[in-house]
Amino acid sequence: FTLPQVRNEEMLSYAPGSVERKKLQEALAAMRARLEKDGPFEIPVVVNGEQIRTNDVQTQALPFEHKTKLATYHQADAATIKKAIDTALKVRPEWEAMPFNDRAAIFLKAADLLATKYRYEVMAATMLGQGKNAWQAEIDAATELCDFWRFNCHFAAQIYADQPIKNSVTTWNRMEYRPLEGFVLAYSPFNFTAIGGNLVSAPALMGNVVLWKPSPMAMYSNYLVFQILKEAGLPDGVIQFVPGDAADIAKDAFAHPEFAGLHFTGSTGVFKHLWKQIGNNIDKYKSYPRIVGETGGKNMHFLHNSADARNAAMQTIRGAFEYNGQKCSATSRVYVPDNLWEEYSTVLTQEMKKLKQGPVDDFSNFTGSVINEQSYNKITKYVDAIKSGKEPKTKVFLGGNASKKDGYTIEPTVILTENPHATTMKEELFGPVVTVYVYPADQYEETMKIAEDTTPYALTGSLFAQDRAAIVKGTNVLRNAAGNFYVNDKSTGAVVGQQAFGGGRASGTNDKAGSGLNLLRWVSPRTIKETF
Ligand code: ALA
Repeated sequence: FTLPQVRNEEMLSYAPGSVERKKLQEALAAMRARLEKDGPFEIPVVVNGEQIRTNDVQTQALPFEHKTKLATYHQADAATIKKAIDTALKVRPEWEAMPFNDRAAIFLKAADLLATKYRYEVMAATMLGQGKNAWQAEIDAATELCDFWRFNCHFAAQIYADQPIKNSVTTWNRMEYRPLEGFVLAYSPFNFTAIGGNLVSAPALMGNVVLWKPSPMAMYSNYLVFQILKEAGLPDGVIQFVPGDAADIAKDAFAHPEFAGLHFTGSTGVFKHLWKQIGNNIDKYKSYPRIVGETGGKNMHFLHNSADARNAAMQTIRGAFEYNGQKCSATSRVYVPDNLWEEYSTVLTQEMKKLKQGPVDDFSNFTGSVINEQSYNKITKYVDAIKSGKEPKTKVFLGGNASKKDGYTIEPTVILTENPHATTMKEELFGPVVTVYVYPADQYEETMKIAEDTTPYALTGSLFAQDRAAIVKGTNVLRNAAGNFYVNDKSTGAVVGQQAFGGGRASGTNDKAGSGLNLLRWVSPRTIKETF
C-alpha cells in the first residue's frame, strides 16, 4: 500500500494577535450567536444514514456556565438500538469487501477536512461543551484526532503487509486479516473528542461495523466528528451514532449473538460491570468478543533527589491541573524528597497564584470548570473530608475552594500528606487535586516500592532525576506502575505515533491506542496454506 507519508498534525500556537486565535474566537462567537438565536443544537440518533428522533430528549450544558444548554439529543429506545444493530450487520459485507486503500482514503480525507475546514468549529464545540481551553482543545480535537486517523492508516497498512515468510517452492502461505464476525460497540468518554473519534474509527478502518455510544457530556463535538466522517465518504451504517442510556444499549448489544467486540474508554467500575455482563452472555455469542478498555488512573510523579525541582514543579502544575485534571493520565500523586521540598513547594506556590479560572472562551483563563455536578460533588467531598480533619496527617496545602454558582468550579488544589497510603494517594478523583508526600531523600528505593503498589491503577507515571543511575533504578523499580512511563516530563500528553497509549492493572487492557497493537484486536486473521 502506498499511503501518503504519515506526519503529526502541526499544533497551532493561538498566541495573542495570531490568525488562528482570531479564527477560533470567531467560531466561538458564531456558535454562541447561533445558540442564542435558535437555542440548543438538536442531535438525532443516526442509523444507516436515517436521522431518528425519539421521545427521550436530554440536554448537554456548558460546564463553566451551566445555565446555558449547548445541545439537546435524542436517546435511542430499544427498537432503535435493534435497528442500529440489524442495519449495521446488513452493511457489513460490503464494507468488509471494500479494498483497504478505499477505506483508508475516507479516514485520511476526514483528517484533512478536520484540519482545514472544520478545525475551529470542532474546537469551539469541545471548548464550550467539554470545558477545555483553546490549547487543550487544540491538542485533542484539532491535532490528536487527525493523528489517530492518519497513523491508524499507516499502522493498518503495515499489518496487512505482514505475511509469513517461510514458504517452500510448492506451498504458498498467506495471512488474511479479516474483520470480526459481527459488530463492535464503542463507549466513548467526555474528556477527549479525539478518543471518541478513535474508538469508532480504529475498528471501522479494519473493516468492522460499529455502534457508537457517545458520552452525554461530549455529544455536540462527537456529532460533528460523526458528520465529518460522513462528508469524507463513510458509507451509511458503518458507524451508527447511538446516544442513549448506557445500560439499555449494553443490555441489547450484549444479548446479540453477533456482538463481536467492546471498545471502551471510561471508568474502571463501568468497564468491569460491562465485562461481567459480557461474561454472563458468553454462551450466546458466535465468537469470543474482543474486550478492549482504557479506564482509570492514579498517576505519579516521582522525584529523585537529583531532580530539577523547578522543572518538576512546573510539570506537576501542567500534569495535575491542565483541563482540571480530567484526564485519565493526570498527575494525582507526587513523591518529593525532603531535600527538594522547599524549592519545589515555593515554585508551586508562586506559579499557582497565576492560574485564572473562568469561561474558556476568555483566553486568559487557564481552566474552566469540572464537567458536571456529579463530578463536582465527588471531588469536593474528598477535599472537604481533609479540611475537616477526617484524614490523619493530611492537610490542604494550596487551593481547596470551590463554587457551583455559575459553573462547577474547583480551585487547583495541592494536598500534603505524611501518609503514603492516604485516601487521596490511592483513589482516583478525576479533578484538579494532587496529593504530595514528602519522603526522606535517602529512602529512594523503599519509597518507590511503596509507590509501585499503592493503587490498583497503572496508567501513566513520571520519574524526575538528573542522575543516570537513579533513572535506571527508578525505571526498573517502577516497572509495573505505568503503561506510559515518562522521564523528566509530565504524566499527560502522549502523542499518537510517538507514545502509544494505554496502561495495565485496573487502568485497562493496555491495547495501546494509536498503534498497530490496538488495530490487531479488530481483526480475526485467517492463515491460508495452498499447496501447488
Ligand atoms: N492520551 C492522553 C494523554 O496522554 C490521555 O494525556
